Amino acid sequence: MTDPADERAEPPAPPAPAATDAVRRHDPDVRGFASDNYAGVHPEVLAALALANGGHQVAYGGDAYTAGLQDLFRRHFGPAAEVFPVFNGTGANVTALQALTERWGAVVCAESAHINVDECGAPERVGGLKLLTVPTPDGKLTPGLIDRQAWGFEDEHRAQPQVVALTQTTELGTCYTPEEVRAICEHAHERGMAVYMDGARLANAAATLGVPLAAFTTDAGVDVLSFGGTKNGLLLGECVVVLSPQRVRGLRYLRKLSMQLASKMRFVSVQFEALLAGDLWLRSAAHANAMARRLEAAVSGVAGVRVTQPVQSNAVFAVLPREVSERLQKRHRFYFWDEATGEVRWMCAFDTTERDVDTFAAALAEEMAAARG
Ligand SMILES: Cc1ncc(COP(=O)(O)O)c(C=O)c1O
Repeated sequence: MTDPADERAEPPAPPAPAATDAVRRHDPDVRGFASDNYAGVHPEVLAALALANGGHQVAYGGDAYTAGLQDLFRRHFGPAAEVFPVFNGTGANVTALQALTERWGAVVCAESAHINVDECGAPERVGGLKLLTVPTPDGKLTPGLIDRQAWGFEDEHRAQPQVVALTQTTELGTCYTPEEVRAICEHAHERGMAVYMDGARLANAAATLGVPLAAFTTDAGVDVLSFGGTKNGLLLGECVVVLSPQRVRGLRYLRKLSMQLASKMRFVSVQFEALLAGDLWLRSAAHANAMARRLEAAVSGVAGVRVTQPVQSNAVFAVLPREVSERLQKRHRFYFWDEATGEVRWMCAFDTTERDVDTFAAALAEEMAAARG
């Protein structure tokens, strides 16, 4: 029975803004060059999260924001695209690669690939996948390099090469052109292999190439990709995007059993809407790339510093005296990429400023001068 008092009751007031018992424990004006993951959340993404808050929405992807995502991704990747939001990049890779392989399948990838180097063996141990790796000078595979591992088809003694996994942009900051991706896809498809693209930095690639996302994915023959959000200003979230539905099996189930099905998925999905409905994805990536080019220009002029890879995304790789790097690390955060050679990696993010770059380059020049004595 309805209480007449209920009928008169006002709906509950929206939550009061920004009252919290949490304490700020960091300086929001300090940024380094360690990783694009060190950056916070883009304010437009935070606004989208607040927009999606309040009320109840169906969990596990039955919400209005996830429903809207399908059309959004189709606008960028073509009418066959199907999108599966997940928590993180490792999860996207492991989920997608399982959907592309059989129990006896193997994945050909660069030795430097994130799936090989930085996922704690998750593709092998969680996905049960065999990785067949190839050394590359710049992180990029080619048809010739792929053939070093794409052999032994129908040999029951060898794990069957079923997928070629590319990373765009690569772990070394280089970028495949649409033609290079197309040549790899044709080569892989002729051998019955599918092509997966780890797109943790796909937006950076589009910004570098100056072409739509589909130009070097869907139109070039990529079958499945991950679309990265975290490195481009999201709180968290990546998407597995299926472009060739006939090549995958059971992605919905694999996402759950790989622990990548978000219950409050609306908050992952709305962030992608913030990114992709307008040009935030491209603006942020283009800015991060521009900061990397600015950094490259500044450090290239410093005697004793050698940039080791073409700067085609938001990363600069360089070799310089180890003791200089170690002193510089006390002033600005960044990592050694290769302990053996002393090569370092400097990453820019959507929030890196020109001042950050100039201050860092000046500190580098100072340390180099001090080292020369
Ligand atoms: C190329 C590449 N792929 C995937 C990832 C995803 O990693 P995570 O699982 O930390 O989100 C990263 C993160 O560094 C990456 O650089």
